[in-house]
This record gives sequence, C-alpha cells and structure tokens, in this order.
Amino acid sequence: MVDIPNVKDAEPIPEKVMSEVVKLLSNGDLFRYNSEGSAAEKLEVNFSKIMGTQYALAVSSCSAALFLALKSLSLPQNARVLMPAFTFAAVPSSVVHANLTPVLCECGEDYRIDFKDFKKKIKSADAVLISHMRGHTSDMDVILSECKQANIPLIEDAAHSLGTTWSGKNIGTLGDIGCFSFQSYKMLNAGEGGIFITDDPELFAKAVIMSGAYEHNWMKHQGDQVYFKKWQNKLPLYNLRMNNLSAALINAQLPELGSRVQKGRLNHDFTAERLDRSPWISVPAKLEPEQRAPDSIQFNLVDMNSTEIDLFEEITSGSGLNVQIFGRTKNNARAFWNWQFLPETFELPKTRKMLMTACDVRLPSRLNLDECEAISEVILSAIMTIKSGVAA
Ligand SMILES: Cc1ncc(COP(=O)(O)O)c(C=O)c1O
Repeated sequence: MVDIPNVKDAEPIPEKVMSEVVKLLSNGDLFRYNSEGSAAEKLEVNFSKIMGTQYALAVSSCSAALFLALKSLSLPQNARVLMPAFTFAAVPSSVVHANLTPVLCECGEDYRIDFKDFKKKIKSADAVLISHMRGHTSDMDVILSECKQANIPLIEDAAHSLGTTWSGKNIGTLGDIGCFSFQSYKMLNAGEGGIFITDDPELFAKAVIMSGAYEHNWMKHQGDQVYFKKWQNKLPLYNLRMNNLSAALINAQLPELGSRVQKGRLNHDFTAERLDRSPWISVPAKLEPEQRAPDSIQFNLVDMNSTEIDLFEEITSGSGLNVQIFGRTKNNARAFWNWQFLPETFELPKTRKMLMTACDVRLPSRLNLDECEAISEVILSAIMTIKSGVAA
C-alpha cells in the first residue's frame, strides 16, 4: 500500500505562469488599474464566460465578495440575513461586517439545510445567504421558491462549490449574486482571493465602486455605464481589490478547472464508496440534481461513544492522517457556538449533534486513487481496531 499522502498541501500552480509572474515582478504592474487589459480584468472576463454570467468582479477574498454582495443590496441596518449554521466563521462575520444580523438555520445529518427551520425563519428574514458548506448543495429548488415567495434576495456562498452544478446550472449562478474563494484550500489556489458574479447590472456597478474602483476606474470593468454614473461618488470605497499577481495565478489554473473537478469527484466517490461499507460510518449521498466538485470528504461516525471517538481521532492522527471532527476540536471556526461575536445566539440541537460526529478529510484533486485507498484504509482500520476492542 502507498504511504499516507500529504493532504495539507494546496493545489500546485502550473509552471507556465512563471514567465508572466516574472514580468509582473520586473515591471511592478501589480495594481489592477495601472494598465489596460490587466490580469484582473482578464480573470473577470474569463470567469464570467466559464460561469455563464454577465459580470464578474475579482476581489481580495470570498469574505470581501460576500460583504460587497450584502452592501450592494442596500439592506437597512440590522436587517436579518438567514444562513445555514454549518459554515465557516468568516461567513456570519461578513454579515456582521455589513452591519446586518445573521440568523442561523438548522442543518441536518446530511450537512444540508433543515427546511422546517428554514421555512419558519425566512418569514422574518430580509435576505438569504446560502453557504454551500464543503460543497454540499441544499435543495436549491426549494430555496429559490421560498426566496421568491418571500420576495427577498439570495446570495450564494460558493467558496467550496466551484464546478458544482444543480440541474445542470452552475452553483453560484442560481441566486442574485454568487461568491467564490481562491484561498489556498480551494479548487483554484491564489493564496487569497475571491470573485463576485451576477447578472444584475446595478448590483454589479455598486459592488465595483465599493470594491475600490475610484474616480472612473469602473471603465476598466464589464457593466453598464448608466449604473456606474448613477452611483458615482455616492458609495464608500472599501478597497477590496484583487492584485494582478493573484489574478495571473488564477488565470493559469482556470484551464485546469474541468480536470480538477473530474478528479476531485472521482477521488471523493471512490473514498465514499469504501468508507460507506462500514456499519460505523455514514457518508450522506448527494441530492439527485447535484453534480459535485469536491476537494474534501465528510462522513459521520455512527454508534460510537465519546471515548471511541477520542480514540478514533488519536489513532488516525497517529497514522499521519488529519481527520477534523468539526464540533470536537477546541475553538473550531466551523462550530457555531464559538461565534461569540454574533449579536444573537441560537439553540440549534440538530446542527450541534451533526457537528459532534461529522468528520472532515481533505482530498485534493492532485491525489491518485491509490492514495485515496490509503486514506480509506487508515480510517477503516482505526474503526476496526476500536470496535473489535483491540485498542481497549
Ligand atoms: C464556506 C466558506 N465560505 C466563505 C469562506 C471565506 O473565504 P475567504 O477565505 O476567501 O474569505 C470560507 C473560507 O474558507 C468558507 O469555508
């Protein structure tokens, strides 16, 4: 059997970008508005084409994109933004940053939204922000219809869903605005970075200006001049722009997106099939209209007590595999009870229960199936050891 692969490393940057990086370093043209046709502009054109949207705005992170998305909606101060409780702390943080109030909704054992709670809470919500956490898509048909009925906007946090589709449509294009991340542990790696996509020319113009397109730099963006002129000098400049170096790194990886998605899915499904054979593991199935683009795998431990789960963490980590159990590691940023900065607190027993047994393992698309097999073996043999009492 092959060695346990290093799953911590991010996706490598293709060599072919080196000449452009060297050029950018030697001419110092890192600021996106210094020249015409910058790498950031190219990224926006290419990305919107790939996603099939009218407009794209490259920014410094997905959190920045979420913040600009919320600001562009011009919601009143403290407006209530409904979002799943299973997400990363940066997501409710972007809501707080925009002077709005996050309202957390329960998620079930399959990591997706609990619609009983969602339908109750949407009645008093002013906007919905769906975090497709770890690339798990909740039923978008229900979410779209609920938002339509409530007549409120929908933002998609697609940080983990680049390449995922729902009924053939790209995730991130179903709501009013979609936001993606290029932080190192995402499908495309620029260290940091994000992108905002929409078909709405007015929301786009507002986001472009607020991202830091001061004076007439909006001319270097896609979009409709009518709305740029309408909002000129009327909005704060938050300066959340992407620099050309990050954009060049992403441009070089864009042609690899399709193959990374295929490989990520293959690795995930191969590993899921092996793990799901164990009676002490459950890997929630995808929903029928969903075509996933995973770079990690999540599974639940079944019928294991706290001592056994502790032992599971100990054995897997001793074998060189980092298995995160969201609710059990101290100060975990994906455990909602650690978000003490929220203006309101929420009792969410279903989500809490799920987080206490849900395991998370990175499966970067660069892994091969032998390496996925080695990962599965570590997990399965740890469980065998525990359940056969060998470790007792
Ligand atoms: C679900 C989710 N949304 C948004 C973000 C924020 O992304 P960024 O680091 O680009 O701000 C993250 C960060 O990993 C995330 O996990």
